[in-house]
Amino acid sequence: MIQTYHAGRHFLQIPGPTNVPDRVLRAIDRPTMDHRGPAFGRFALELLGKLRAVFKTHGPVVVFPASGTGAWEAALVNTLSPGDKVLMVETGQFATLWKNMAVKLGLKPEFIPTDWRTGVDPAQIEDVLRKDKAHEIKAVCFLHNETATGCLSPVLPVRKAIDAAGHPALLMVDTISSLASIDYRHDEWGVDVTVGGSQKGLMLPPGLSFNAVGDKALAVAKNAKLPKSFWSWEDMIANNRNGFFPYTPATNLLYALAESIDMLHEEGLENVFARHDRHAEATRRAVRGWGLEIWCREPKDYSSSLTAVLMPEGQDADRFRKAALEHFDISLGTGLSKLAGKIFRIGHLGDTNDLTIVGALAGVEMGLALAGVPHRKGGVQAAMDYLEAAASPARAAAE
Ligand SMILES: Cc1ncc(COP(=O)(O)O)c(C=O)c1O
Repeated sequence: MIQTYHAGRHFLQIPGPTNVPDRVLRAIDRPTMDHRGPAFGRFALELLGKLRAVFKTHGPVVVFPASGTGAWEAALVNTLSPGDKVLMVETGQFATLWKNMAVKLGLKPEFIPTDWRTGVDPAQIEDVLRKDKAHEIKAVCFLHNETATGCLSPVLPVRKAIDAAGHPALLMVDTISSLASIDYRHDEWGVDVTVGGSQKGLMLPPGLSFNAVGDKALAVAKNAKLPKSFWSWEDMIANNRNGFFPYTPATNLLYALAESIDMLHEEGLENVFARHDRHAEATRRAVRGWGLEIWCREPKDYSSSLTAVLMPEGQDADRFRKAALEHFDISLGTGLSKLAGKIFRIGHLGDTNDLTIVGALAGVEMGLALAGVPHRKGGVQAAMDYLEAAASPARAAAE
């Protein structure tokens, strides 16, 4: 007999979409409002104000009823013109998809290669920009967190590199898998456009995506010639001033967004970041305990929202993931594109606590054993030891 019901909660440990907390589910479960009525206008105006704090910006945050890919497109078409050069960095599969989009839109990306095991190198960006004496490069676009590899990139150092080169290019940063999980500051770090999505640190279902837009980007947008209609910031920002949208907003997802922002503030954003750092460290200790290799090469690039794990030679990551799913009802992230079968990804972002992380790591450890993957026991124990010490500040200080 095929089992169609699995008792207990499924462990959704992919690096997004993430688990949607009950409070957010309850917030969605309300009657849809008249999106042109006064009550909605009041609600959305307040929400759009609160959203700015998540991006740490005082400027507008545009909300699209779309997945993250839509917000990528919006960032490009609102600021650039056909044939414009953009500087991008091949940190992994998601960076590659954004670059492919730029090509399809008629832009000319210069794509700095990496081996997909590292973040962006600001010195390389500065070097390319210094050589671009004619200022043909109109934007530098990269991912704060590359979800395909678990490598984080430094934002402020890239801002400084652009400034050091005396280059006027816009800075556009994708925070789809870092927003509300890893410290991010749109205004303070001088970012011109920040791209975000609903389904990861914000703990919402997929379906909303964001552009936080700085003053320079707004000014540049006035002369940007790429065609746009649905993605246009202009109508959106004009309507948003009164809490309205130029077309039907995803009303119930906006209720969810309001709830999740409240939850993030109740916990405190700094505590949210510290929790993600802690769960990432616990996960890395488990990986080392198993005798496996963390895919991201250098600690300075480690991501606090996911950890990618390299399989031992000759072992298929997807066969292991299948065993873990079938026996322990846990979903782990697959290796994307050229990493298919070679790595698996453990998502530790969103609505997680110490015990869900320990449970997830136990699922991985037992899955490795079931799939016959050579490893050492004790990874979960190493993670538990770390979490226990972290819970006891005195003991943590003594160690
Ligand atoms: C960093 C990053 N950018 C962009 C995307 C694309 O977003 P979506 O799949 O929501 O369109 C993803 C998806 O996971 C992502 O992780």
